[in-house]
Amino acid sequence: MNILGIETSCDETAAAVVKNGTIILSNVIATSAEMHAKTGGIIPENAARQQIKSVIPVITSALEKAKLKSENIDAIAVTYGPGLIGSLLVGIETAKTLSLLWNKPIVPVNHLSAHIYANWLSNKKVPKFPALALVVSGGHTDIVLMKNHGKLEWIGGTKDDAAGEAFDKTARLLGLPYPGGPEISTEAEKYMTKNPKVKLSFFPRPIIHEKNYDWSFSGLKTAVLNEVKDKTLNEEEKQKIAAEVQEAIVDVLVKKTLRAVREYKPKSLLLAGGVAANTRLTEKFKIAINEHAPNTSFFVPQPKFCTDNAAYIASFAYFNHSPIAWQKINANPQLTIAGQI
Ligand code: KG4
Ligand code: ZN
Repeated sequence: MNILGIETSCDETAAAVVKNGTIILSNVIATSAEMHAKTGGIIPENAARQQIKSVIPVITSALEKAKLKSENIDAIAVTYGPGLIGSLLVGIETAKTLSLLWNKPIVPVNHLSAHIYANWLSNKKVPKFPALALVVSGGHTDIVLMKNHGKLEWIGGTKDDAAGEAFDKTARLLGLPYPGGPEISTEAEKYMTKNPKVKLSFFPRPIIHEKNYDWSFSGLKTAVLNEVKDKTLNEEEKQKIAAEVQEAIVDVLVKKTLRAVREYKPKSLLLAGGVAANTRLTEKFKIAINEHAPNTSFFVPQPKFCTDNAAYIASFAYFNHSPIAWQKINANPQLTIAGQI
């Protein structure tokens, strides 16, 4: 079964064709990130305008690269939320039009639940249920128990800023461009290479000891602001703060997720979302799981599948196939992972 996935929830315009939920036939992404780097963050109108320009060329390219014609597509999957309303509408309206023109079923996809399916893409090993999934993206940080495909139970999330947002906002305070996650990671790496033995424990680890699976990252942003304001930092000082910020975020994510692993004893732990591309995070998870939960298999997608793309949108639709009439699909910018799937 060949599914065409379409993803336009934020600043990436993406289309992919995935066979049987796991084999990527094509995966095309146009990003307007460079434009947003200039404004220090995303201006929604700019993102939507870029989506309109890119959506048809990206879909055409995905079909060409997969060497398929519309008649070889069995279904269309499209993100309907969460995201920026203008950006979401571009993908949704395009997908609806194609569904009508080609007479193909259309599957509305929750972007957050779909992120988890990057773990099914081109992996030799298939995750087993029950699984715990930690979704760490730019706007969301959620931990869910997956009893099976389509059976998700939300067990915790962030009370304020998401982990990705914490990376992005502190990067901005350090004068680093958007998106901040990869920038902080690069700067932190420089510091850790020069100072491999230094203990990184300067910034607070909010609510790390609370007996729940929630996070709070806004205090970290304030702590960084207090540290940098009215100062001119040199490169070395910036790198140190980047390393400290990264360590604080990684520390709370790993410790609290590990507590959930101990409680729920899942067969698999799945990382997903843009922040899962962070090597320090994945290294620390590998060590922690190895030491404390060796019966749980740890999965993390290749970095290129962690950040937004349409391949996991198509994969999600394959495993949770629930087509609905195109007339009934609406954008839902506030959709949550625990919301309608
Ligand atoms: O999942 P994603 O691509 O888009 C959303 O659905 O939000 O996540 C984007 C987020 C951004 O906050 C970005 O800074 C972060 O993922 N990110 C990273 C890394 N690569 C992307 N954060 C930390 N380390 C990275 N290597
Ligand atoms: Zn995303």
